[in-house]
Amino acid sequence: MATKWSPESWRNLPIVQVPDYPDQDKLQSVEAKLATFPPLVFGGEARDLKGQLADVAVGKGFLLQGGDCAESFLEHHADNIRDFFRVFLQMAVVLTYAGGLPVVKVGRIAGQFAKPRSSPTEKKDGEELPSYRGDIINGSEFTPEARIPDPNRQIEAYRQSAATLNLLRAFAGGGYANLERVHQWTLGFVKDSPQGHRYQELADRISETMNFMRACGVTADTTRELQSTRFYTSHEALLLGYEQALARCDSTTGDWVATSGHMIWIGDRTRQPDHAHVEFCRGITNPIGLKCGPTLDGDGLLGLIDQLNPKNESGRLTLICRFGFDKAEKHLPGLIRAVEREGRSVVWSCDPMHGNTISAATGFKTRPFDRILKEVEHFFDIHRAEGTHAGGIHVEMTGQNVTECTGGATAISESDLMDRYHTHCDPRLNADQALELAFLVAERMKLEREARDSDRQTAATA
Ligand code: PEP
Ligand code: CO
Repeated sequence: MATKWSPESWRNLPIVQVPDYPDQDKLQSVEAKLATFPPLVFGGEARDLKGQLADVAVGKGFLLQGGDCAESFLEHHADNIRDFFRVFLQMAVVLTYAGGLPVVKVGRIAGQFAKPRSSPTEKKDGEELPSYRGDIINGSEFTPEARIPDPNRQIEAYRQSAATLNLLRAFAGGGYANLERVHQWTLGFVKDSPQGHRYQELADRISETMNFMRACGVTADTTRELQSTRFYTSHEALLLGYEQALARCDSTTGDWVATSGHMIWIGDRTRQPDHAHVEFCRGITNPIGLKCGPTLDGDGLLGLIDQLNPKNESGRLTLICRFGFDKAEKHLPGLIRAVEREGRSVVWSCDPMHGNTISAATGFKTRPFDRILKEVEHFFDIHRAEGTHAGGIHVEMTGQNVTECTGGATAISESDLMDRYHTHCDPRLNADQALELAFLVAERMKLEREARDSDRQTAATA
C-alpha cells in the first residue's frame, strides 16, 4: 500500500473488476473532459451526511439506503425517479413514525451504473461474450458490439446523474416531500394492497398529529423540517477512472472529495486491502460504505478500518453486511465483537439482498422475500444480543410494480417472475415489498428502543 495518497495513487496497485477498454486514447480524453465538468455534489453536503451518520453510529438515527441494483440509460424517465422517490419517502415515514428515530435518506441513485460481475464472460446458446458491466461501461444487449467498453458512456452517465440529481433536489426541497402530502405518496397499484392500507392508517395518524401541531402554531411554513427533507445519493465506487476524474479538492478545507455522489461504497469483490479500490477510497473524505460478506473476518475488517478510518471519525464508515439469511448468525457477531473490542465507531447496516440471490426453476435470478426478512430479523437480534445499534438497511428496490423477488403480501410465485421482470442486474423489491420491509424494520426499531429504555431504567434503579 502506497503511503502517500493522491487521486491517482490507486493506479499503481493491483485492481480487479476493470473493463478492458480497447481505445485507451479515447478513454484518456473522456477522463480529461470529465475532470473539467462541474461537481455533482459539494463537499459541504458530504460533510452534512457524515454528521448525520455520526448520529446513527451512536444510536440516534437510522440509515435508509436503497435504489436500483443498476441504473440504466433506457429507463431514465422522470416518472421512474418520482415513483422511486415516493416509495422511499413512504419507507422513511414508516421508519421515522413507527420506529421513532430520525432517518438518514440515501438513494442508490444518480451514479449507480457500474457493476462487478462474478464472471468476465457470459455464455448464451454456445456463444461467449464479455459480461455486461453496467451502462456506464458497455451495453446489456447480447451482441459483440454492445459488449465493447465505450468510454463515451461515462459522459452519458455523468449527464444522467446530473439530471436525476436535479430532479431529486427539486422533489426533496421544492414541496413534494412536504409532510402535509403524506397521503399523496402512495402509488396507484399499492393503494389497495395490505401494505397500502397499513400505510394509509399511519398517514392518517400523521395528519392528525400535524393538525394538532398546526393548531399550536407549528406548520410547514414555520418549520422547515416539515416542508422539505435532505436526500443524499450514493453508488459503488467501482469505475475508478470516472471517480478520479470527478474527485475535487475542497477549497474550504483542502480535503479531497468524490463529487460523483455524497456517499460511495466499496463492493464485496473489490475490498482487498492492498488493491486499488481501498486505496482510492481511503484518501477521499466522503462517508464511505464497505460491503462485508462471509469471507471477511474480524482481523480483516479491523485492517480495513485502519486504512479507511484511521482517525476513528464517527460517520465516516458504514459497514454494509450482506451474508445471507443462513450465514449472518455465523459471521456478524465476530465482526461486531472485533469492532467493539477496538472501540471503533461505525454504522452497522444490513443489506439483506446480495446474500440471498437464487436461481428460480424458470431460470430467473430471484430473491425470496422471506429470506430477506429473515436476514433483517437476524441482524436486529444479533445487535440486541451484542448491545450494539442496528443502524440501517441497504436494499435494492424500485417504485415500479415489478415481479423480481418472490413472496411478500401479494405472494409473487416463481411462475409470476416472467410477468414484469425488468431489472438490468439483480432482482429488486417492488414498492409493496419495500413498504412491507419498512414496517417490519420499524417494529424492530421500536423493540430496540424499548429494550434500551428499560436497560437504562434498570441501571438507574440499581
Ligand atoms: C451491489 O450492491 O449491487 C453489489 C454488487 O453488492 P456486493 O458488492 O455486496 O456483492
Ligand atoms: Co445488486
